[in-house]
Amino acid sequence: MKNVVFYGGGNISQAIIEGLLGSGFNKENIFYVDRNTTNIKKLKKLKIRSFKKNNNAKVDLFILAVKPKDAIDAYKEILDKYKNPKVISLVAGIRSKKYINFNKKIQFLRAMPNTSSKHGLGITAVFNSSFTKNNLKKVLIFLNKVGIVITVDKESNIDTFTGIIGSGPAYFFHLLKSYERKLLTISNGDKKMVNEVMSNLMKGVGMSIEKNTNLDNLITAVASKKGTTEAGLKYFKSNKLGNIFEKGLNTAIKRSKEISNEF
Ligand SMILES: NC(=O)c1ccc[n+]([C@@H]2O[C@H](COP(=O)([O-])OP(=O)(O)OC[C@H]3O[C@@H](n4cnc5c(N)ncnc54)[C@H](OP(=O)(O)O)[C@@H]3O)[C@@H](O)[C@H]2O)c1
Repeated sequence: MKNVVFYGGGNISQAIIEGLLGSGFNKENIFYVDRNTTNIKKLKKLKIRSFKKNNNAKVDLFILAVKPKDAIDAYKEILDKYKNPKVISLVAGIRSKKYINFNKKIQFLRAMPNTSSKHGLGITAVFNSSFTKNNLKKVLIFLNKVGIVITVDKESNIDTFTGIIGSGPAYFFHLLKSYERKLLTISNGDKKMVNEVMSNLMKGVGMSIEKNTNLDNLITAVASKKGTTEAGLKYFKSNKLGNIFEKGLNTAIKRSKEISNEF
């Protein structure tokens, strides 16, 4: 993929663009279409060019990255202006069929990334609807520049991914707010130190998982009999924190399925 256009240049586009730039992808080959002045300012700061001002560039890939409520209109704008575009949709919920029904010849697929793409640590699920084998390969190589890519062969699995991975970073940020509150009390409000502590905690957890996939063994290695960890875990278990968390994930997956019926 040489020239790519982010149609909608908000949170997720900016995360992917920053990841692409970090991977060495040439900023000259990235364009955006957006209407929101705050997002346009941020994209300009990244030195990304407006596609509307450079619309004679040959486009290899459109990346649809607007909110579900705007998705069909934005998609129609792409189809109206460009002949046989290749489109990947990052939009939650809305099924491939809705887009492909406009023109069955379009190469279209759904990708569900997360904002960790910004750091090259993204996780993107891909469901291919109508890309040719050769072009799909190119898309996977492209997405691979910002993290790992997982292809799924059932579109409903994209909903699961949306609920647990697309939304995933926010759940951990939410949990970390409890850490932040506690740490601020013991660091005289030193926010920089607090951030460093939380970041190392998360990085350490990540590295442990990479080396050892048995989560129970990892827990046992921290929790000694009658110790502090055991006391904390006991409280979490008796209050069914695991169940509550899982129910939250299921609610998010359900919401992704509902969105599809709304638009
Ligand atoms: N954020 C994430 O972590 C994440 C992760 C995975 C997938 N996604 C999916 O990615 C999509 C975008 O999410 P986001 O958080 O990046 O949204 P966002 O921050 O709101 O960005 C969307 C941008 O597109 C602009 N836009 C909408 N319709 C347009 C049009 N027709 N022409 C030009 N610009 C248009 C919006 O402008 P206005 O503000 O003026 O409307 C906004 O600047 C969503 O469907 C979401 O489900 C997001």
